[in-house]
Amino acid sequence: MKKITEKDIKNNIGNLPFSFEIFDVIDSTNSYARRIVDNSCDKRVIISDMQTNGRGRVGREFYSPSDNGIYMSVILKLDKSFDDLTLFTVAIASITLKAIEKVAKKTCEIKWVNDIFLDNKKVCGILCENILSKDTKNVEYIVVGIGINVKSTENFPENILPVAGALCEVDRNVLISEILKGIFEMSQDYELRKYLPFYKEKSLVLHKNITFENNGVTYEGKVVDINDSGNLEVELLDGSIKTIKSGEIRLSLDNIY
Ligand code: BTN
Repeated sequence: MKKITEKDIKNNIGNLPFSFEIFDVIDSTNSYARRIVDNSCDKRVIISDMQTNGRGRVGREFYSPSDNGIYMSVILKLDKSFDDLTLFTVAIASITLKAIEKVAKKTCEIKWVNDIFLDNKKVCGILCENILSKDTKNVEYIVVGIGINVKSTENFPENILPVAGALCEVDRNVLISEILKGIFEMSQDYELRKYLPFYKEKSLVLHKNITFENNGVTYEGKVVDINDSGNLEVELLDGSIKTIKSGEIRLSLDNIY
């Protein structure tokens, strides 16, 4: 695969005010971002060709072999309350999906909250981590971590092989650039609500039957809406509505998700 270089990315993003650190190998770009974060880090992009300890949501590993994918973290400096940011992951998933569809010329879907699927296989995972201000308890920085399987899933471990997919023919520099353009646009006003209609349009779970666990109880129901906070509204078998704010859900008919 073509190497990821600052020069190639800059050729595509023009004069957008991002700065870059690009590694051949690192433990995790998100962990590195959290180690270095300070006032000078707004719009710092950390990319690695490989991660030895790529991290996913809920403590999972994100398999990150060399010469195969995109593993990037973008540090954004902001000063916002949690309430202003409930749709942040909705926005990032929408931006990333739009960039993938444009560059890979393929149609994808978003599995709530922010996994991106192509042909029913996960091609991208997103891990956003908030860093709070000690004084105001507002969110002062967000580390936006994006992992994309680009070349193939050949040699992936057996446990993730059934669920993992790859984009195939894509220039990583071009895809990274498209994502950064979208993130820059979002950071201009953080009007996150405007991403919701597109997110719903691309949802893999809206109007589908799902199962999920809550306090050790397994529930079954149909997703009837994704509300203005990005939460799932699920109609349970008894007709009542339950709002799910976090956690993992499964599509009922296909438990491999
Ligand atoms: C998930 O699938 O649960 C989220 C995966 C997020 C992976 C990306 S790769 C770049 C960044 N660094 C990490 O350690 N994780 C994120």
